[in-house]
Amino acid sequence: MTFPIVRPRRLRKTEALRRMVRETRLSADNLMQPLFVVPGSGIDKPVSSMPGVSQLSVDRAVAAAGRARDAGCPSIILFGIPETKDPVGSSSWDSDGIVQQATRAIKKTHPDLCVVADVCFCEYTDHGHCGVIENGDVHNDHTLENLKKQVVALAESGIDMMAPSGMMDGMVKAIRSGLDGAGFSDLPIMSYSVKFASAYYGPFREAAESAPSFGDRRTYQMDPSNAREALREARLDVAEGADILMVKPALAYLDLIKDLRQHFDQPIAAYNVSGEMAMVEAAAANGWIDRKRVIIETLTSMHRAGADIILTYWATEVAQWLR
Ligand code: PBG
Ligand code: ZN
Repeated sequence: MTFPIVRPRRLRKTEALRRMVRETRLSADNLMQPLFVVPGSGIDKPVSSMPGVSQLSVDRAVAAAGRARDAGCPSIILFGIPETKDPVGSSSWDSDGIVQQATRAIKKTHPDLCVVADVCFCEYTDHGHCGVIENGDVHNDHTLENLKKQVVALAESGIDMMAPSGMMDGMVKAIRSGLDGAGFSDLPIMSYSVKFASAYYGPFREAAESAPSFGDRRTYQMDPSNAREALREARLDVAEGADILMVKPALAYLDLIKDLRQHFDQPIAAYNVSGEMAMVEAAAANGWIDRKRVIIETLTSMHRAGADIILTYWATEVAQWLR
Protein backbone atom coordinates (compact mmCIF):
# COMPACT_ATOMS: atom_id res chain seq x y z
CA MET A 1 0.00 0.00 0.00
CA THR A 2 1.33 3.36 -0.97
CA PHE A 3 0.26 6.80 -2.19
CA PRO A 4 -2.56 7.81 -2.61
CA ILE A 5 -3.84 5.24 -0.08
CA VAL A 6 -1.16 5.98 2.50
CA ARG A 7 -0.96 9.66 3.44
CA PRO A 8 1.17 10.38 6.54
CA ARG A 9 -0.05 13.97 6.51
CA ARG A 10 -3.48 12.77 7.80
CA LEU A 11 -2.01 12.44 11.28
CA ARG A 12 -0.34 15.87 11.20
CA LYS A 13 -3.47 17.85 10.43
CA THR A 14 -4.26 19.24 13.89
CA GLU A 15 -2.43 19.75 17.16
CA ALA A 16 -4.77 17.23 18.79
CA LEU A 17 -3.74 14.55 16.28
CA ARG A 18 -0.07 15.45 16.59
CA ARG A 19 -0.29 15.12 20.39
CA MET A 20 -1.99 11.72 20.03
CA VAL A 21 0.79 10.22 17.92
CA ARG A 22 3.80 11.96 19.48
CA GLU A 23 6.47 9.34 20.15
CA THR A 24 8.83 11.19 22.48
CA ARG A 25 7.88 13.43 25.35
CA LEU A 26 10.53 15.47 27.10
CA SER A 27 9.73 15.93 30.78
CA ALA A 28 11.30 17.66 33.76
CA ASP A 29 11.96 14.14 35.05
CA ASN A 30 14.64 13.77 32.36
CA LEU A 31 16.58 16.88 33.34
CA MET A 32 19.59 17.27 35.63
CA GLN A 33 20.84 20.77 36.49
CA PRO A 34 24.63 21.32 36.81
CA LEU A 35 25.80 23.88 39.42
CA PHE A 36 29.28 25.37 39.96
CA VAL A 37 30.11 25.99 43.60
CA VAL A 38 32.82 28.38 44.88
CA PRO A 39 34.02 29.31 48.39
CA GLY A 40 32.56 32.37 50.10
CA SER A 41 29.05 33.69 50.55
CA GLY A 42 26.72 35.89 48.55
CA ILE A 43 28.67 35.11 45.37
CA ASP A 44 26.92 34.85 41.99
CA LYS A 45 29.61 35.36 39.36
CA PRO A 46 28.40 34.98 35.76
CA VAL A 47 30.44 32.81 33.37
CA SER A 48 30.84 34.99 30.27
CA SER A 49 30.83 32.15 27.73
CA MET A 50 27.79 30.46 29.30
CA PRO A 51 24.88 32.94 29.44
CA GLY A 52 22.67 32.27 32.47
CA VAL A 53 25.33 30.20 34.27
CA SER A 54 27.18 31.49 37.34
CA GLN A 55 29.72 30.34 39.85
CA LEU A 56 27.75 30.25 43.12
CA SER A 57 28.76 30.27 46.76
CA VAL A 58 27.12 27.59 48.91
CA ASP A 59 24.24 29.82 50.06
CA ARG A 60 23.43 30.76 46.46
CA ALA A 61 23.81 27.13 45.34
CA VAL A 62 21.19 26.12 47.92
CA ALA A 63 18.83 28.69 46.38
CA ALA A 64 19.58 27.51 42.83
CA ALA A 65 19.02 23.91 43.89
CA GLY A 66 15.66 24.99 45.30
CA ARG A 67 14.71 26.62 41.99
CA ALA A 68 15.60 23.44 40.08
CA ARG A 69 13.57 21.38 42.51
CA ASP A 70 10.56 23.71 42.42
CA ALA A 71 10.63 23.66 38.62
CA GLY A 72 10.36 19.87 38.79
CA CYS A 73 13.92 18.68 38.18
CA PRO A 74 14.62 15.60 40.30
CA SER A 75 18.38 16.10 40.36
CA ILE A 76 21.36 18.46 40.26
CA ILE A 77 25.06 17.74 39.68
CA LEU A 78 27.72 19.67 41.58
CA PHE A 79 31.11 20.88 40.33
CA GLY A 80 33.44 22.43 42.89
CA ILE A 81 36.04 25.15 42.49
CA PRO A 82 38.22 24.83 45.61
CA GLU A 83 40.04 27.47 47.63
CA THR A 84 43.41 25.86 46.95
CA LYS A 85 44.80 23.55 44.28
CA ASP A 86 47.77 21.18 44.51
CA PRO A 87 49.42 18.53 42.28
CA VAL A 88 47.13 15.70 43.43
CA GLY A 89 43.89 17.58 44.04
CA SER A 90 43.73 16.74 47.74
CA SER A 91 41.03 19.31 48.51
CA SER A 92 38.62 17.00 46.69
CA TRP A 93 38.76 14.51 49.56
CA ASP A 94 38.74 17.07 52.38
CA SER A 95 35.70 16.45 54.59
CA ASP A 96 35.23 20.22 54.49
CA GLY A 97 35.83 20.53 50.74
CA ILE A 98 33.65 22.79 48.66
CA VAL A 99 31.35 20.09 47.23
CA GLN A 100 31.10 18.41 50.64
CA GLN A 101 29.98 21.74 52.19
CA ALA A 102 27.51 22.38 49.38
CA THR A 103 26.10 18.86 49.66
CA ARG A 104 25.47 19.15 53.39
CA ALA A 105 23.74 22.52 52.94
CA ILE A 106 21.64 21.45 49.95
CA LYS A 107 20.56 18.12 51.44
CA LYS A 108 19.58 19.86 54.67
CA THR A 109 17.30 22.31 52.85
CA HIS A 110 16.13 20.03 50.02
CA PRO A 111 16.34 16.44 51.29
CA ASP A 112 14.21 15.07 48.44
CA LEU A 113 16.53 16.34 45.68
CA CYS A 114 18.96 13.79 44.19
CA VAL A 115 22.34 15.47 44.59
CA VAL A 116 25.00 14.06 42.25
CA ALA A 117 28.73 14.80 42.42
CA ASP A 118 31.02 15.06 39.41
CA VAL A 119 33.95 12.95 40.55
CA CYS A 120 37.26 14.07 39.06
CA PHE A 121 40.41 16.02 39.87
CA CYS A 122 40.80 18.62 37.12
CA GLU A 123 39.14 21.37 39.18
CA TYR A 124 41.38 20.51 42.15
CA THR A 125 44.82 20.05 40.60
CA ASP A 126 47.17 22.98 39.98
CA HIS A 127 47.99 21.53 36.51
CA GLY A 128 44.32 21.02 35.57
CA HIS A 129 44.61 17.35 34.58
CA CYS A 130 42.15 14.71 35.77
CA GLY A 131 44.58 12.87 38.07
CA VAL A 132 48.12 12.49 39.36
CA ILE A 133 50.89 13.36 36.88
CA GLU A 134 53.83 11.02 36.45
CA ASN A 135 56.31 11.22 33.57
CA GLY A 136 54.24 13.90 31.88
CA ASP A 137 50.95 11.99 31.82
CA VAL A 138 48.11 11.09 34.18
CA HIS A 139 49.05 7.95 36.12
CA ASN A 140 46.01 5.70 35.95
CA ASP A 141 46.34 3.48 39.01
CA HIS A 142 47.61 6.13 41.43
CA THR A 143 44.65 8.25 40.39
CA LEU A 144 42.32 5.34 41.23
CA GLU A 145 43.61 5.33 44.80
CA ASN A 146 42.76 9.02 45.15
CA LEU A 147 39.34 8.49 43.56
CA LYS A 148 38.49 6.13 46.41
CA LYS A 149 39.33 8.85 48.94
CA GLN A 150 37.26 11.42 47.06
CA VAL A 151 34.12 9.27 46.85
CA VAL A 152 34.24 8.26 50.50
CA ALA A 153 34.50 11.92 51.56
CA LEU A 154 31.61 12.79 49.24
CA ALA A 155 29.51 9.89 50.51
CA GLU A 156 30.10 10.97 54.10
CA SER A 157 28.82 14.45 53.25
CA GLY A 158 25.51 12.94 52.08
CA ILE A 159 25.81 12.89 48.29
CA ASP A 160 23.22 10.68 46.56
CA MET A 161 25.11 9.58 43.43
CA MET A 162 28.67 9.49 42.09
CA ALA A 163 29.44 10.60 38.55
CA PRO A 164 33.09 9.83 37.75
CA SER A 165 34.20 11.85 34.70
CA GLY A 166 37.96 11.29 34.51
CA MET A 167 38.02 8.40 32.00
CA MET A 168 40.53 6.40 34.07
CA ASP A 169 40.59 2.68 33.30
CA GLY A 170 39.01 0.78 36.19
CA MET A 171 37.52 3.90 37.79
CA VAL A 172 34.07 2.39 38.31
CA LYS A 173 35.50 -0.74 39.95
CA ALA A 174 37.76 1.33 42.22
CA ILE A 175 34.92 3.64 43.24
CA ARG A 176 32.55 0.71 43.83
CA SER A 177 35.06 -1.01 46.08
CA GLY A 178 35.87 2.25 47.91
CA LEU A 179 32.20 2.91 48.57
CA ASP A 180 31.34 -0.66 49.52
CA GLY A 181 34.32 -0.85 51.86
CA ALA A 182 33.11 2.27 53.68
CA GLY A 183 29.52 1.08 54.06
CA PHE A 184 28.02 2.89 51.08
CA SER A 185 27.02 -0.08 48.96
CA ASP A 186 23.64 1.56 48.22
CA LEU A 187 25.14 4.63 46.48
CA PRO A 188 24.72 4.44 42.67
CA ILE A 189 27.41 5.26 40.11
CA MET A 190 26.56 7.18 36.94
CA SER A 191 29.72 6.73 34.91
CA TYR A 192 30.88 9.10 32.20
CA SER A 193 31.51 5.88 30.27
CA VAL A 194 31.83 7.34 26.79
CA LYS A 195 33.52 10.71 27.10
CA PHE A 196 35.35 12.23 24.17
CA ALA A 197 38.32 14.61 24.02
CA SER A 198 36.05 17.34 22.72
CA ALA A 199 36.45 20.97 21.73
CA TYR A 200 32.88 21.45 22.97
CA TYR A 201 34.12 21.66 26.58
CA GLY A 202 35.75 25.07 26.07
CA PRO A 203 33.29 27.27 27.98
CA PHE A 204 33.08 24.80 30.88
CA ARG A 205 36.79 25.14 31.52
CA GLU A 206 36.23 28.83 32.22
CA ALA A 207 33.31 28.01 34.54
CA ALA A 208 35.22 25.29 36.41
CA GLU A 209 38.67 26.89 36.12
CA SER A 210 39.91 23.49 34.98
CA ALA A 211 41.79 24.00 31.71
CA PRO A 212 44.95 21.84 31.58
CA SER A 213 48.12 23.94 31.98
CA PHE A 214 50.02 21.71 29.51
CA GLY A 215 49.02 19.23 26.83
CA ASP A 216 45.46 18.03 26.46
CA ARG A 217 43.23 15.17 27.63
CA ARG A 218 43.68 12.91 24.61
CA THR A 219 45.58 10.20 26.50
CA TYR A 220 42.51 9.53 28.64
CA GLN A 221 39.41 10.92 26.91
CA MET A 222 38.27 9.14 23.72
CA ASP A 223 39.05 9.96 20.11
CA PRO A 224 35.88 11.49 18.58
CA SER A 225 36.21 9.13 15.60
CA ASN A 226 35.57 5.92 17.55
CA ALA A 227 32.17 4.25 17.88
CA ARG A 228 33.10 0.60 18.48
CA GLU A 229 35.43 1.72 21.25
CA ALA A 230 32.46 3.50 22.82
CA LEU A 231 30.67 0.16 23.16
CA ARG A 232 33.80 -1.41 24.63
CA GLU A 233 34.10 1.37 27.23
CA ALA A 234 30.44 0.98 28.15
CA ARG A 235 30.76 -2.80 28.42
CA LEU A 236 33.72 -2.43 30.79
CA ASP A 237 31.80 0.00 32.98
CA VAL A 238 28.82 -2.35 33.15
CA ALA A 239 31.15 -5.19 34.17
CA GLU A 240 32.67 -2.96 36.85
CA GLY A 241 29.24 -2.17 38.29
CA ALA A 242 28.10 1.12 36.72
CA ASP A 243 24.42 1.78 37.37
CA ILE A 244 23.94 4.46 34.68
CA LEU A 245 26.00 4.97 31.48
CA MET A 246 26.70 8.44 30.12
CA VAL A 247 27.61 9.71 26.65
CA LYS A 248 29.34 13.08 26.46
CA PRO A 249 29.07 15.39 24.55
CA ALA A 250 25.52 14.70 23.38
CA LEU A 251 24.61 16.55 20.19
CA ALA A 252 27.52 15.46 17.99
CA TYR A 253 27.25 11.91 19.42
CA LEU A 254 23.55 11.07 19.09
CA ASP A 255 24.54 7.93 17.18
CA LEU A 256 26.34 6.66 20.26
CA ILE A 257 23.45 7.46 22.59
CA LYS A 258 21.36 5.28 20.30
CA ASP A 259 24.04 2.56 20.15
CA LEU A 260 24.22 2.39 23.93
CA ARG A 261 20.42 2.40 24.22
CA GLN A 262 20.27 -0.60 21.88
CA HIS A 263 23.12 -2.58 23.45
CA PHE A 264 22.52 -2.06 27.17
CA ASP A 265 19.55 -2.08 29.48
CA GLN A 266 21.05 0.32 32.03
CA PRO A 267 19.60 3.84 32.05
CA ILE A 268 21.46 6.13 29.63
CA ALA A 269 22.49 9.71 30.39
CA ALA A 270 23.63 12.37 27.91
CA TYR A 271 25.59 15.53 28.69
CA ASN A 272 24.44 18.57 26.70
CA VAL A 273 27.81 20.27 27.21
CA SER A 274 28.88 23.88 27.53
CA GLY A 275 29.90 24.39 23.89
CA GLU A 276 26.57 23.04 22.63
CA MET A 277 24.82 25.51 24.87
CA ALA A 278 27.09 28.41 23.96
CA MET A 279 26.46 27.92 20.21
CA VAL A 280 22.70 28.10 20.69
CA GLU A 281 22.92 31.11 23.01
CA ALA A 282 25.22 32.98 20.64
CA ALA A 283 23.00 32.35 17.62
CA ALA A 284 19.90 33.31 19.61
CA ALA A 285 21.56 36.51 20.86
CA ASN A 286 22.16 37.44 17.22
CA GLY A 287 18.52 36.84 16.39
CA TRP A 288 19.45 34.01 14.03
CA ILE A 289 17.38 31.25 15.66
CA ASP A 290 14.30 30.90 17.87
CA ARG A 291 16.03 30.16 21.18
CA LYS A 292 13.19 28.36 22.94
CA ARG A 293 12.26 26.15 19.99
CA VAL A 294 15.90 25.23 19.31
CA ILE A 295 16.49 24.31 22.94
CA ILE A 296 13.40 22.07 23.09
CA GLU A 297 14.27 20.49 19.73
CA THR A 298 17.87 19.87 20.85
CA LEU A 299 16.94 18.23 24.15
CA THR A 300 14.14 16.24 22.52
CA SER A 301 16.64 14.83 20.01
CA MET A 302 18.77 13.51 22.88
CA HIS A 303 15.75 11.95 24.55
CA ARG A 304 14.57 10.47 21.22
CA ALA A 305 18.03 8.96 20.64
CA GLY A 306 17.65 7.11 23.93
CA ALA A 307 18.80 9.30 26.81
CA ASP A 308 16.73 8.89 29.96
CA ILE A 309 18.70 11.56 31.78
CA ILE A 310 19.94 14.79 30.17
CA LEU A 311 22.46 16.96 31.97
CA THR A 312 21.82 20.47 30.72
CA TYR A 313 22.52 24.02 31.85
CA TRP A 314 18.97 24.81 30.70
CA ALA A 315 17.37 22.21 33.02
CA THR A 316 15.60 24.57 35.42
CA GLU A 317 14.37 26.92 32.69
CA VAL A 318 13.15 24.09 30.45
CA ALA A 319 11.46 22.33 33.37
CA GLN A 320 9.52 25.55 33.95
CA TRP A 321 8.46 25.65 30.30
CA LEU A 322 7.27 22.04 30.46
CA ARG A 323 5.03 22.51 33.52
C1 PBG B 1 35.83 17.35 33.96
C2 PBG B 1 34.60 17.67 33.21
C3 PBG B 1 34.51 18.39 32.00
C4 PBG B 1 33.15 18.55 31.75
C5 PBG B 1 32.45 17.91 32.77
N1 PBG B 1 33.37 17.34 33.66
C6 PBG B 1 35.52 19.04 31.15
C7 PBG B 1 36.68 18.34 30.68
O1 PBG B 1 36.75 17.11 30.57
O2 PBG B 1 37.62 19.09 30.36
C8 PBG B 1 32.59 19.29 30.57
C9 PBG B 1 31.23 19.83 30.73
C10 PBG B 1 30.83 20.84 29.73
O3 PBG B 1 31.58 21.20 28.80
O4 PBG B 1 29.69 21.32 29.87
N2 PBG B 1 36.22 16.05 34.04
ZN1 ZN C 1 38.45 15.95 34.97
